[in-house]
Amino acid sequence: MKLTQAILPVAGLGTRFLPWTKVVPKELLPIGNQPIIALLVDECLSVGINDICFVINRGKEAIPQYFYSMPGLEQELSKRGKSHLLEELARYHNVNFHVVYQDELHGDGHALLQARDWIKGDMTAVLFGDDLIAGKENGLQQLTKGFASLKDPKNAAMLCLQEVEKKLVSKYGIVDVDAAWQKTAPLERLRKVKTLVEKPKPENAPSNLGIVGKYIIPKVIFEKLHQIEGGSHSEIRLIDALIAEKEKIDIYGYVFEGQRLDTGTPEGYKEAVRVLG
Ligand code: UTP
Repeated sequence: MKLTQAILPVAGLGTRFLPWTKVVPKELLPIGNQPIIALLVDECLSVGINDICFVINRGKEAIPQYFYSMPGLEQELSKRGKSHLLEELARYHNVNFHVVYQDELHGDGHALLQARDWIKGDMTAVLFGDDLIAGKENGLQQLTKGFASLKDPKNAAMLCLQEVEKKLVSKYGIVDVDAAWQKTAPLERLRKVKTLVEKPKPENAPSNLGIVGKYIIPKVIFEKLHQIEGGSHSEIRLIDALIAEKEKIDIYGYVFEGQRLDTGTPEGYKEAVRVLG
């Protein structure tokens, strides 16, 4: 099954980076000579996805703008013989970028719902704005490898998993996995998810396997999010749609290899610059 589309929800206010984020979306902060968002787009390109939808908030238009071509500028560079700069700008010429707005912030699932009409294929990759994985393979390469190893990937979801410290489980969606299935798993790092719990207290957590912000999800999850939106929920969360559908779809997790960098906090961003900059 070919994965061709990805949604990158980046509509958040980025309050932890205020006052910076009054003027610069946190996703445009640099790591080396690229903004964080370009590393996420590169993750998509590395697995052959070239149809990318940004979910943004009003005022964050500079995010898609970074990727658009500027014919006037390119003509000028060409006149000046700046071929190396032209090559750099041509990087994204074959990528289709799409933008939808999330005008009110009602949660990660609500962000995804704004892109519901844009979805064409059965499967969609979802990369939230803050998480990067430094290592041999990026996060999406590892998820797609896990996905490709499945016997019946139709209607399956793949979550990126990390072992987290017990005392920190209340910051994550936590999964419980099928220990018997694991013995026959096609890949050592692959898990079959039995249950999911959002931000449990350490004493109630079924494991210490936390979900990191990268997913491959089937279309039915968008339908479920739409149904949840019709109810009286103040926040629409992706994990609630996965929990609601867990008997109907197969949910897998891939325990990633590498170092997770959470660029959503000033300390995490500093570490990301140290490791990848
Ligand atoms: P965060 O919880 O980190 O929120 O969202 P935030 O606004 O980005 O940052 P803080 O907490 O105010 O500092 C995690 C990811 O989910 C996206 C965010 O843009 C970020 O990439 N998100 C979250 C949305 O796009 N919409 C939402 O309603 C919630």
